[in-house]
Amino acid sequence: MILKNAKFYLGGHIAEKDIKIEGGKISAFGHFSGEGIDAKGLFALPGLIDPHVHLRDPGLTHKEDFCSGTRAALCGGFTTVLDMPNTKPSTTTLAALKEKRKIAAQKAVCDYGIHFGATKENFAEVKAAKSPTLKLYMGKSTGEVLVDDIASIWKHFDGFPHEKPLLLHAEDEETLNSLEKLGIKGRATIAEKIAVEKARLIAAQVNRLVYFAHLSTAESIHMAKLWEKSLVEVSPHHLFLSSDKDGKRLKEFYRVNPPLRSEAERRRLWGSLYEIDTIGSDHAPHTPEEKKKGAAGFPGLETSLSLFLDAHNKGLLALPWIIFRMAENPARIFNLHSKGRIGIGYDADITLVDLKKEWKVSADDFQSKCGWTPYEGMKLRGKVKKVLFRGVLAVEDGAVLAETKGREVLL
Ligand code: NCD
Ligand code: ZN
Ligand code: ZN
Repeated sequence: MILKNAKFYLGGHIAEKDIKIEGGKISAFGHFSGEGIDAKGLFALPGLIDPHVHLRDPGLTHKEDFCSGTRAALCGGFTTVLDMPNTKPSTTTLAALKEKRKIAAQKAVCDYGIHFGATKENFAEVKAAKSPTLKLYMGKSTGEVLVDDIASIWKHFDGFPHEKPLLLHAEDEETLNSLEKLGIKGRATIAEKIAVEKARLIAAQVNRLVYFAHLSTAESIHMAKLWEKSLVEVSPHHLFLSSDKDGKRLKEFYRVNPPLRSEAERRRLWGSLYEIDTIGSDHAPHTPEEKKKGAAGFPGLETSLSLFLDAHNKGLLALPWIIFRMAENPARIFNLHSKGRIGIGYDADITLVDLKKEWKVSADDFQSKCGWTPYEGMKLRGKVKKVLFRGVLAVEDGAVLAETKGREVLL
């Protein structure tokens, strides 16, 4: 298979070459004769990797499942997604992990990994699972998983292999509860900052790597980075939406943890651009009925890339910034050795985008089961045109073309 006339970053420069694909891998760059897929006018990005998605399977499959969620991923330009443990049951036991593995192997249409979850008791299970990652919720969000006392947090921080990513939902439960008692609404930023301080101090004390999921303020990021082995993930909604700008429009769809922040805070977050290690969509689908009852979380897989491409078109971001944080660095952090780059020997996961294409966001066009998006009606410039997954043309113009089969890659 040959991808013709592809424009892409090769060794720090933009190249315009054909990409030869054999056995699902990239085998050569050059100019080749013969039939192929034409990429003229499109820009080729490495298949994106989303380290933070909630595919809701098992147990919550009315919101999403491994099939619909991975289809949404492919259409959004993601060829690998890492699934969070707050399903039903939570992925906090070996049995639950086994069950999720079986479901994913049957239903996933792109590659995936499964994050194991921490509880206040499951130290032996974490060890036995030999999981490559561990997710720990310091504050309550969607689901049952919560580890909110210092002793248990410390035990997981010390017990889980120190060089492996330990991912955190960093909002401090005691602070969240106290704020509520004091009548201070909206999970104020101080809950995030206190959690970040606790976590980075404990991480430094036991000398371990720690990955802060969806940090929402410049100050939290700065505090996290006071420990050299901290990694920081930011989610698109905190960069592109704010409470003052979007609160009224979103109405009952407004809730997400951590919440949208003020416009001033959002602007400051853009000042932290170079402290951000990864972008995680935090794709957290809920049905409109559940949203109206207060469920927290936004779908994100099908809008993330375009939001960043649009920002690129507005001169706010360079393409390499996006590629690094949405592909290359997630691959490095999560040890996905054959992913994250357009390079010889890498998996032929390639997202072809039309950088200039303007489109209007509409949940009607999306694969996610949840049927809504916080970006409804927004006009964005930059759109996924085609997606190659392991060398197979899986997506074109928002339609899933092939029956691809995902593999577990986070092992
Ligand atoms: C997430 C969910 O619904 O699973 N919700 C959210 O508001 N972000 C959970 C989480 O990531 O905290
Ligand atoms: Zn979270
Ligand atoms: Zn999440």
